[in-house]
Amino acid sequence: MAEVVIVGSADEAGDIAAGIIRSLLEQLPDAVLGFATGSTPLSTYRALAAQGLDLGAVRGFALDEYVGLPAGHSQSYRAVIDREVVAPLGLQPGSVRVPGDDGLPLQGAGERYERDIYAAGGIDLQVLGIGRTGHIGFNEPGSSLASLTRVKTLTESTRLDNARFFDSPDEVPTHCITQGLGTILRARHLVLLAFGESKADAVAAALEGPVSASTPGSVVQLHPRVTVIVDEAAARHLEHADYYRYAWDHRLDWER
Ligand code: PGA
Repeated sequence: MAEVVIVGSADEAGDIAAGIIRSLLEQLPDAVLGFATGSTPLSTYRALAAQGLDLGAVRGFALDEYVGLPAGHSQSYRAVIDREVVAPLGLQPGSVRVPGDDGLPLQGAGERYERDIYAAGGIDLQVLGIGRTGHIGFNEPGSSLASLTRVKTLTESTRLDNARFFDSPDEVPTHCITQGLGTILRARHLVLLAFGESKADAVAAALEGPVSASTPGSVVQLHPRVTVIVDEAAARHLEHADYYRYAWDHRLDWER
């Protein structure tokens, strides 16, 4: 079962997630981190930046990228990762890969990204958000539980959710390239974050519903090491919330 931590705010969640990443980097300064984009991980990246660690040896892989945006578009995940992760955390330029960024044809980009993750030794810790559709990465409902990095079609609901980052909803691409659910399952530790009432159904379905391609986030139930950090609003529909709180309050010394 995932460790589920219910906190008062996104900032508190960011502090906990950043602490988990710091502990990893103390053991493994050149760890390979999987970076999510979107609003959810921002408090984690801010907290990590505030720790002032030397992250110069860290390598990273982004979860996903839009297909079809002009090169250098401010909302491409390449640009977002450079702005919100690489620069504030002081990572080496070029140390974080984004799917499809190798300048080669889109066809085959997924397989090449998988090879590059493998060649880097695999992802040690993957930061994840979850969409209202239950997606993780851009694995929309119906994604194979064993899927690897590939091009996908975004749902209209996800395009509308992400329209806030663009001048008009029509500008949101219809396609993306995303790590698959199987790719995510290969990471050694998953840290899934979710905030706000709008995520409450997706969080409950992912953690407590059946494992199903209809709820891509439910694949985390198949992973041996998952930390879920949610605020009270996102935890609202969790049936076992009291147990999760109890377990967190009673964690053993070596788990702290
Ligand atoms: P958000 O997106 O962090 O912007 O809410 C999460 C997601 O869609 O995976």
